[in-house]
Amino acid sequence: MSSSDFIVFGAPKIEREEIEEVVRCLESGWIGTGPRVAQFEAEFAAYKQVRHAAAVGSCTAALQLSVRAAGIGPGDEVITTPLTFCATVNAIVHAGGTPVLADIDPVTMNIDPAEVENRITSKTKAILPVHFAGRPCDMDALTAIADRYGLKLIEDCAHAIETKYHGRAAGTFGDFGCFSFYATKNVTTGEGGMILTRSEDDLARIKMLALHGMSKDAWKRFGDEGYKHYYVVETGYKCNMMDLQAALGIHQLRRVEQNGKRREEIWNRYNAAFAELPVTTPAEPEAETRHAHHLYTILIDEERGGITRDDFLEEVTRRGIGVGVHYLSIPEHPAYQAEFGWRPEGYPHAMRIGRQTVSLPLSAKLTDEEVSRVIEAVGATLTKSGQRSEVRNLR
Ligand SMILES: Cc1ncc(COP(=O)(O)O)c(C=O)c1O
Repeated sequence: MSSSDFIVFGAPKIEREEIEEVVRCLESGWIGTGPRVAQFEAEFAAYKQVRHAAAVGSCTAALQLSVRAAGIGPGDEVITTPLTFCATVNAIVHAGGTPVLADIDPVTMNIDPAEVENRITSKTKAILPVHFAGRPCDMDALTAIADRYGLKLIEDCAHAIETKYHGRAAGTFGDFGCFSFYATKNVTTGEGGMILTRSEDDLARIKMLALHGMSKDAWKRFGDEGYKHYYVVETGYKCNMMDLQAALGIHQLRRVEQNGKRREEIWNRYNAAFAELPVTTPAEPEAETRHAHHLYTILIDEERGGITRDDFLEEVTRRGIGVGVHYLSIPEHPAYQAEFGWRPEGYPHAMRIGRQTVSLPLSAKLTDEEVSRVIEAVGATLTKSGQRSEVRNLR
C-alpha cells in the first residue's frame, strides 16, 4: 500500500470557495482579526439562532475564557466528565479552580447527572458537561441541577456544532457554549473556536479578555477611523481569531448540513456493517435529539472480540486505516494523578470505555470506496482474531 492510499483520520473537506476566500483575504491586506471574523461570528450566531458569538483561536481558549468569565478562581470547584480531551480539565486548572470528575453514563458516554449531584459541595461553582461525540447531554437534568444549586453552566460543544436537545441547539443552554474548529471538526478553520454567551455583558468581557484585556478591539485601533488609544482593564489573554481562519470558516459553515448528511450516511453504513460483529456500536440517538455524528466509536472487548483494543488499533492502522482514541479517561494521565490523586478505577465507566474505544474515520471527505475499505479492515481484523480466540478456547 502506498502512503497516498492511507485513510487519514479526520481529514478535512476543503473546497474551492474557502481556498478562494483565503486568497482574497491575503490580497486584501487584512489578515488579522477584522471584517471576516465579524462576518463568521454573525453567521455562526444566525446558524445557532442566538445573538452573541465571539470567535477565538481554539476551543481550548474558548473554555479558558469562559471559565474565567464565569468567575471561577482559587477554591472553586467545577464538575466535569472524565471522558474528555485534557483541554476541558486544563481550562479549570488554569483559572485556579479545582476540577471534580463525575462518571459517565456507560450507554450515552455523557456525564451522568446523578453523579454530578453526588459531587456538589459548598465550593461547587459550575458544571462543565461535554456533548460527547456529538450526542447531547441530558440538559433537562443538568440545567435543573444548575438552577437548584445556583451554578454556572459551561457547555463544551467541541463535538457538537449541529447537536440539538429537545429542539434547542447545544451551546445555548449554558451561560457559555464553547465550539472547536480544529482540523478534524465538523466545521474547520484549521485551528479556531467560538463562544456563545447568554448576555451582552459576558460577550463584551470575553472579547476583551481574548485580546489582552484591552478596552478597544485592535483591528479598530488601526482602522480608517483614526488612531484610538486603548487601556488594559483586566489581565487578559491573546487568543483572537484571524480573518485568514474566518475565511475558511465562513464557507465551511455554509456546508455544515451537507457534510453532516454525508457523515450520517457513513454512520449508517458502519452500523449496518458492524451489526453482526463482536463489537459494541454507538447507542441510538435519544428521542427528540439531534446527534452531530462527529465521532463513530466502537468498543473492542477482548473477551468478545478476541483482540485487545491496542492490538486492534495497530492492525487496522497496518491495513491503511487511520484511527483515533477518544479518550483514555482523564485519570489515566500522570499529571492529574499527581495533582489530584485521581485513579482510573474511581470512574469505572469512563475507565472501561477509555480502554476499549476506537474512533473510525467519519469525514465527509470519505468516498464510498474508502468507507468500504474501513469496513473490510475492521471485519478482517476481528474475524482473524475471532478465529484465533476460538482456537484458544478449544485448547
Ligand atoms: C471535548 C473537547 N474539548 C475541547 C477541545 C479543544 O479544542 P481545540 O483543539 O479547538 O482547542 C477538544 C479538541 O479536540 C475536544 O475534543
